[in-house]
Amino acid sequence: MAAVLKIEHIGVEFDGFHALTDVSISVERNSIHCFIGPNGAGKTTLLDIICAKTKPTGGIVTFYPLGKEAITLTGMKEHRIVNAGVGRKFQVPSVFVNLSVYDNMVLSLKGHKGVLESIFYRSTSAERDAIDAALTRVGLETRKDDKAGTLAHGQKQWLEIAMQLLQGPELIMLDEPAAGMGEAETFKTGEILAEVKSACSVIVVEHDMAFVKQIADRATVLHEGKVLAEGSVDEVLSNETVQAVYLGRGGE
Ligand SMILES: Nc1ncnc2c1ncn2[C@@H]1O[C@H](COP(=O)(O)OP(=O)(O)O)[C@@H](O)[C@H]1O
Ligand SMILES: [Mg+2]
Repeated sequence: MAAVLKIEHIGVEFDGFHALTDVSISVERNSIHCFIGPNGAGKTTLLDIICAKTKPTGGIVTFYPLGKEAITLTGMKEHRIVNAGVGRKFQVPSVFVNLSVYDNMVLSLKGHKGVLESIFYRSTSAERDAIDAALTRVGLETRKDDKAGTLAHGQKQWLEIAMQLLQGPELIMLDEPAAGMGEAETFKTGEILAEVKSACSVIVVEHDMAFVKQIADRATVLHEGKVLAEGSVDEVLSNETVQAVYLGRGGE
């Protein structure tokens, strides 16, 4: 399988504190790759590096869009990375609760900047089709006209995934998408992502191990800013060092 993203020898320092040290990870195209590990391991920082919100002290991140030349993401502007096809969903939902589900989608169409501009914008039929298709993907097609504020917590997260898909990304990154969700919502999120990966690779930072088992093609365990283990979920969870530090069975 070909890589869609390569992280090579990434290091990050915050005032002398090593948040990430020599992290190298290869993410395969059309896969769900989970970054797991205890709090403070550096998972969110790694997503910040990929989308260039944070600058590394060393190392390089390369994106391989299908049929195009490889793009070095390190050093690029954040919005250019989004335009190149790498989307990011943050930990906290950021939908506009007073706008309809549909208008939230219009807001995330490529090239749209302001809320007012988007409300008065007449979308093209191709854009409307794309919005419908993305909402159907996440099971919100019947909620188009409802205010986003009336959606359940899980549905808001799915709306944000649909908003990302609208940009036509080749890779999306989700930071703890199942946080605050019940079991049924979490499972449905997994089903949505399993569908999404046919069109787009997915990086997921996650704590919920049942969810990771459900969705991950591959998992990388981070601990104190370093890669501790990588492989299938079963492989990494049966790794003794991982069990010691992550599952709290012994260790130092
Ligand atoms: N902007 C920052 N300045 C200083 N320290 C930070 C900053 N961002 C993260 N850190 C530290 O880096 C470590 C990794 O954080 P983070 O990537 O958020 O971990 P995780 O997402 O795995 O819980 C933590 O110790 C955190 O306090
Ligand atoms: Mg985090």
